[in-house]
Amino acid sequence: MRKLSSLVDRVRHSAIREMLKEVAELRLKGYDIIQLSTGQPSLPIDEEVLEYLIEEMRRNRLLASSYTPTKGLRSVLEAIQNDLKVFGNIDVALNELVITEGATEGLLLIALTILDRDDELIIMDPSYVSYPQDAVIAGAKPVFVEENIEEGFQPNINRILEHITPKTKAILLATPDNPTGRILRKDVAKALIDISEDHDIWLVIDEAYKHLIYEGEHFWFWREDRARERTICVNTFSKDPAMTGFRLGYVYGPKEVIAAIEKFKQYSTLSSNTPAQIAAVYYLKPEVKKRILEYTLRIYKSRRDKMYEAVKQYLPEAVTIKPEGAMYLFANMKNYLRKVNLSDQEFMVKLVKEKHVAVVAGSSFGEKGKDHIRFTFVGEPEDRIEKGIKLIKEFIDEKID
Ligand SMILES: Cc1ncc(COP(=O)(O)O)c(C=O)c1O
Repeated sequence: MRKLSSLVDRVRHSAIREMLKEVAELRLKGYDIIQLSTGQPSLPIDEEVLEYLIEEMRRNRLLASSYTPTKGLRSVLEAIQNDLKVFGNIDVALNELVITEGATEGLLLIALTILDRDDELIIMDPSYVSYPQDAVIAGAKPVFVEENIEEGFQPNINRILEHITPKTKAILLATPDNPTGRILRKDVAKALIDISEDHDIWLVIDEAYKHLIYEGEHFWFWREDRARERTICVNTFSKDPAMTGFRLGYVYGPKEVIAAIEKFKQYSTLSSNTPAQIAAVYYLKPEVKKRILEYTLRIYKSRRDKMYEAVKQYLPEAVTIKPEGAMYLFANMKNYLRKVNLSDQEFMVKLVKEKHVAVVAGSSFGEKGKDHIRFTFVGEPEDRIEKGIKLIKEFIDEKID
């Protein structure tokens, strides 16, 4: 075969997508899989949002099936502007905002926009799977800074400072976080702004879960005037409105960054999914969004509590903290993994094959995630969450016997 580019070998597969493939195959064979692995909520899109979308598509078939401007429909950009004012009390101008094909495209285009070859991108270890790969695709180098459970998975400012070099171009992190569920503390967020000012580096904040908070509150970087010049925020409609398959997100940031993202987007996706943009306009009506958030948060919080309780009850040797946000409980399973003599990756693969419970191995999120397991709590109702954790206990007990 003719040679592929060297980049193909340098980019890693996403363990989460690989697990999804495995789950899909097992389901095709008729197995009932307890889905504690992907960030796919089990709630469907809100009925009212869907009705609006269908009506609008019927009413204006041409618009609904056409390209939109690369930046996005004016109506959705204005709705986002208003949403950021209502929920975040921040003012974002239209030239500081661009629509993307989910946060995934936003993250990749940001990497291409701010990173040059051999630049360094500081990311937390563990962190979301796409961050290091985006850096690699951009020709840059991901630099990993440990976060750990003893520090509540808060970024350690001194440790970050130790990793800054003349090549450091940006720090990228999520709040609330995937896989750890931690919310950035205000003092830590402010210290990150100090670093970005002192060293003149970008802060890229992944706000995918900014509305999925069960305790505490989101730190809006753009509320700090001094942060706006160097902070780029990535967002998505995949999580709070559960529109994962619609593939829609947005980025706000300094206008030069947004203009560059728009330029690249002309060649990556040209424009984003039009029906998704129409649906987003309705979702972003403040009263609609408040209603949906109230409903969603009630369900997710209860599932989060059930997951935490079940892990404490059935897997008492797992070390974990109750996640304050997002969709995941991240547990250090070292004690069990030693007993069953499996790595976290082997555990994940055998568990889904033998007990039909899907989880994600912690090492998929970085070296420091080794020996951990990420459990998603939004993909199943409480009874199946409990059943899944019980099956994991059974799996471990059988392996020890
Ligand atoms: C932190 C974080 N960022 C980005 C994404 C990508 O989301 P999407 O491309 O669906 O918007 C995810 C998905 O799980 C995520 O957890």
